[in-house]
Amino acid sequence: MKILLLGKNGQVGWELQRSLSILGELVVLDRQSELCGDLSQPEGIADTVRALRPDVIVNAAAHTAVDKAESEVDLARIVNAIAPMALAQAAAEVGAWLVHYSTDYVFDGSGTRAWQEGEATGPLGVYGQTKLEGEQAIAASGCSHLIFRTSWVYAARGGNFAKTMLRLAQERERLTVIDDQHGAPTGADMIADVTAHAIRAAIKKPELSGLYHLVAGGETSWHGYASHVIARARHLRPDIPWKVGEIVPVPTSAFPTPAKRPLNSRLNTQKLQQAFGLSLPHWQQGVNRLLAEITY
Ligand SMILES: NC(=O)c1ccc[n+]([C@@H]2O[C@H](COP(=O)([O-])OP(=O)(O)OC[C@H]3O[C@@H](n4cnc5c(N)ncnc54)[C@H](OP(=O)(O)O)[C@@H]3O)[C@@H](O)[C@H]2O)c1
Repeated sequence: MKILLLGKNGQVGWELQRSLSILGELVVLDRQSELCGDLSQPEGIADTVRALRPDVIVNAAAHTAVDKAESEVDLARIVNAIAPMALAQAAAEVGAWLVHYSTDYVFDGSGTRAWQEGEATGPLGVYGQTKLEGEQAIAASGCSHLIFRTSWVYAARGGNFAKTMLRLAQERERLTVIDDQHGAPTGADMIADVTAHAIRAAIKKPELSGLYHLVAGGETSWHGYASHVIARARHLRPDIPWKVGEIVPVPTSAFPTPAKRPLNSRLNTQKLQQAFGLSLPHWQQGVNRLLAEITY
């Protein structure tokens, strides 16, 4: 099997390099690559697919800067919607599967129930809107595809919320953290492993083509997430002079941002678990593993 991976240096892309490497020949590209791997050039990306004729394309690249997207609407639309459409059309031409990632931000965040795949979308900002357009273009292209909507992604590599909290907990006595947004912190490593598993299954069973929610089990708020991270780190590293004494829950309105965030980012993963025979671990399991890795 020949797999083309786009966005190799992102959180998910990096982990995919590991997870996909056992499935066959892996061609990895980023925007600097000689063959076009730049999603701001949709035609170039489609030409890359036609030149390589892979069996599977995995697109981990995206315009993920949620606030910046509000002032970079055209670029966000090209990278998140038009390039995925070009990829999907080229995939349909060469008979390749397209694996793509989307987001909880396609929903308006109302209610408290976990969203199911078929429920009405209502993005609150440019990032969510353009990611939704990307999903719709792929579905309309006729190519076999797996679209995984995920949320609150973290990875050991690069910056992330947990690392920021660990730093602040050593610098400040009092932290304020949002407690009215709810979701599940999801490890890029788990997303990559599920992707590899799903590709193996889908290649043999084309009827698995479709849209799936992929997040860790359970749910929390950013405040719950931060509290867990700091308590666990204190347990792992009692030798560090932790300064923080108070982690104060605050509403989203305490941190005004250009893009509005959904309050309810819960995603129901039953469809994915049943279709692929998977059991998704609780979010704390992955976060504990991350902490064991980054606190030493
Ligand atoms: N992060 C989250 O919390 C989250 C939540 C829900 C869904 N998702 C989705 O999950 C997927 C993976 O996200 P992630 O967290 O791994 O993102 P990430 O760490 O921000 O990585 C995004 C990657 O896309 C690349 N990229 C951006 N513009 C590009 C362009 N024009 N051409 C080629 N590559 C480009 C970046 O390349 P450079 O390294 O060169 O900048 C980076 O490697 C995305 O589809 C995202 O929408 C993420």
